Amino acid sequence: MPPLGPQPGINMRIEISPSNTLHGTLILPLTQGDDVADASLTGVPSALKAQIANALSEGDFKGKKGEILSLVGTGEGRALLVGLGKTKDLNRDVWREIGAKATAAMKPSHGKEFTVAAEDGDMHDLAAMAEGMMLRDYSYDVYLTKDDDDDEDDSEAVVRFACEDEDTEPLAATVKRMASVVKGVHRSRDLGNCPPNDLYPMAYARQAMEYAEGFERLNVSVITYEEALERGMGGLVAVGMGSSRKPCMVIFELNAHITGRAPVIVGKGITFDTGGISIKPSPSMDEMKYDMGGSSVVFGLMQALTESGWEGKVTGIACMAENMPAANAQRPGDVIRTYSGKTIEVLNTDAEGRLVLSDGLWKAGEYDPEYIIDLATLTGACVVALGHEASGLWSNDDDLRSRIHEAGNAVGELAWPMPLLPAFEKEMTDSKIADTRNLGAGRWGGANTAAAFLKQFVPSRGEGDDEEQIPWAHLDIAGTYWGAKTNATVKHGATGVHVRTLHRLITGE
Ligand code: BES
Ligand code: MN
Ligand code: ZN
Repeated sequence: MPPLGPQPGINMRIEISPSNTLHGTLILPLTQGDDVADASLTGVPSALKAQIANALSEGDFKGKKGEILSLVGTGEGRALLVGLGKTKDLNRDVWREIGAKATAAMKPSHGKEFTVAAEDGDMHDLAAMAEGMMLRDYSYDVYLTKDDDDDEDDSEAVVRFACEDEDTEPLAATVKRMASVVKGVHRSRDLGNCPPNDLYPMAYARQAMEYAEGFERLNVSVITYEEALERGMGGLVAVGMGSSRKPCMVIFELNAHITGRAPVIVGKGITFDTGGISIKPSPSMDEMKYDMGGSSVVFGLMQALTESGWEGKVTGIACMAENMPAANAQRPGDVIRTYSGKTIEVLNTDAEGRLVLSDGLWKAGEYDPEYIIDLATLTGACVVALGHEASGLWSNDDDLRSRIHEAGNAVGELAWPMPLLPAFEKEMTDSKIADTRNLGAGRWGGANTAAAFLKQFVPSRGEGDDEEQIPWAHLDIAGTYWGAKTNATVKHGATGVHVRTLHRLITGE
């Protein structure tokens, strides 16, 4: 597996500065209808100011949302004008988006130094802009050999936010925390973008162990294939046994010394999903390398929490397997016994995510969690329902559901509430020879029947009348983990969606 450290790319560092002296290229966010007189440009040389005023009066730049005008080599100094759109439509999502657009517009001709005219900005808006800038500062080029030969300058760029004095410290602290979270997002994206010949279950495990070595508060342990067999993790084993790259379960424990209930996050980690014996059609099958998206979000989240200095306890569980057709692969018709003891009639080997998750969810119960959240690129049906714009969100707990929904809204990663209905659950338990089945009765409602299937493996606590299922939520990220065309922070490939949602849910920041 190639090294998956910081990626070369734009590679920027953000600094917050109380001085409004212009260094390098000016980045100037403007709303529609702004003129330069309105904008605070105290440190900007008058010649550049005049040039900007001219571009505005000529109509070269209107300030439409996401509009970019680069002024380079046409006069004094350099500037990048960035459109915020109409003032009445301005919100954090817009600031994040235009930050990303600004990064995308950076060219070698702008040099390596930038100053954002931020004196008039609200601290939270500026933070969102910085976040967008950092998120978009990503490229996955570890497999490109041509970069080695040319002498492209991949040294770090510095972006200074020129702020009012009183804003610098809180903004600097926020941006520093965000940078750790963004690193987690980029970790998730790196894992997702990594080709499946290099990212297989034990490669993920090794990378996780290696990462944890750098942090005393973070512990990573691996349940190997042999151990999974011994412990009766029949879901994980059944899905992964047909591959020469054997399955495993990777467990991240942050601040495990702390007592009391804490969140457990479970991720589907199918490093490649051929469908198994129920094999998928060839077109676009390459995209099934992203089928480990849930597990990559677990890793990215654990990294984000670790590096942002979160002091609470959190556990992550990644269910890693490769779903291959083979002489020793599972068959449609097999009945497997899961870690929970429940048996499943496997009617379609392509409904494999729910099989590995059945063991992951049951394992989560051993931590007596405050709540369990699973993330999975689980169903094509969820993409049909919600497209690439929102993840599906199911929960057995109203409070948890609304907290996830709100955290998602706050960071611009939508998670849309979907129904958990008894009828769907009934459909999934209708097997003549096993406790449950991994396929619905027909094709309708496939995302809901999948969620209902998972619910059967959510552990309970308490005895008798007091027995109650642990609060649990399921995020189907099949449409949002890759393929979004409207996401300015992601040029292409894996998105790392919900690293930021869950970081916010857990830390409140
Ligand atoms: N990984 C797929 C789901 C998927 C499909 C994600 C397309 C993104 C795009 C999952 O393992 C799968 O194959 N699901 C089947 C379930 C069916 C057999 C019940 C599906 O959605 O067709
Ligand atoms: Mn599948
Ligand atoms: Zn799958």
